[in-house]
Amino acid sequence: MRPLVMTIIEQLIRIVRERQRRGMRFAELSPHNLAVLGMRRPPVAPARASTPAPAQNYTSILTQDFTANKPAPAPTQGSAVIEAPAPVVYPPPPDVSSADWDTICHACLACQCCDLCATRHSVVIEDGCRTAPLMFIGEGPGADEDAQGVPFVGRAGQLLTRMIGAMGRDRACTDPAKAVYIANIVKCRPPGNRNPLPEEGNACIGYLRRQIALVNPKVIVLLGNVALKFLTGRSGIMSARGKWIEVCGIPTMPTFHPSYVIRFERDAKQFHDTKLLVWQDLQQVMKKLSEIQ
Ligand code: URA
Repeated sequence: MRPLVMTIIEQLIRIVRERQRRGMRFAELSPHNLAVLGMRRPPVAPARASTPAPAQNYTSILTQDFTANKPAPAPTQGSAVIEAPAPVVYPPPPDVSSADWDTICHACLACQCCDLCATRHSVVIEDGCRTAPLMFIGEGPGADEDAQGVPFVGRAGQLLTRMIGAMGRDRACTDPAKAVYIANIVKCRPPGNRNPLPEEGNACIGYLRRQIALVNPKVIVLLGNVALKFLTGRSGIMSARGKWIEVCGIPTMPTFHPSYVIRFERDAKQFHDTKLLVWQDLQQVMKKLSEIQ
């Protein structure tokens, strides 16, 4: 179990960074949060408004728009306004468009091109066989994947593994007749399992594109909206699933993400119906593979 204070700090850092990215230069922190961050309230909090702000708690202050021309509200009783440091400028992602596997893996492990590097425990690059004819692409690591450094090992991953088994394939196999390769849009866990932000996905997508080029699968399966969006620019997995598209010139089948499917676990009928839709998509994939191979 991770220490509670650590997760609070991580949450605070994430909240403050997101506001900073949106152009806010000040964040009001409660005495409690100041204590968590190991900081003390400045003796005199700088007055930033000529008229007193209406009574509000610090949560509502944190969700306000602090941008241009608008004086920030006066700090509420017992809290402090702290000027945020200059926005973090990340280096551009390296050009890996002709990199070999070692170079990609080293670049991913050293990557500091977006916020996610600050909170990750692992860089989750891949699983399966690099010469597999079938590639699955998910969204990004969750807590289990971040802890183990392997994609799709949590509950959604277990469902994906069962689906791969139902296709007559095996994540651990290197025989092309059975092998699969698995990767994600982002390689570091978005805190709280939120969707990757555009800048996070865009910073990471070059690594994935190179992985696709090196594996050169015969067929790709996109799992869920995030994979669909970052690789094709299209939204709407509901209407996209079950229909062939192309990604990097490779026949690609979008389908539901296993996390979406397990949301219905407690409703036997919906669970069955949703799994059936995914299974129909995967049957098309098996058919396509048998035609190509
Ligand atoms: N969900 C994903 O999209 N990828 C993983 O690796 C795990 C869960």
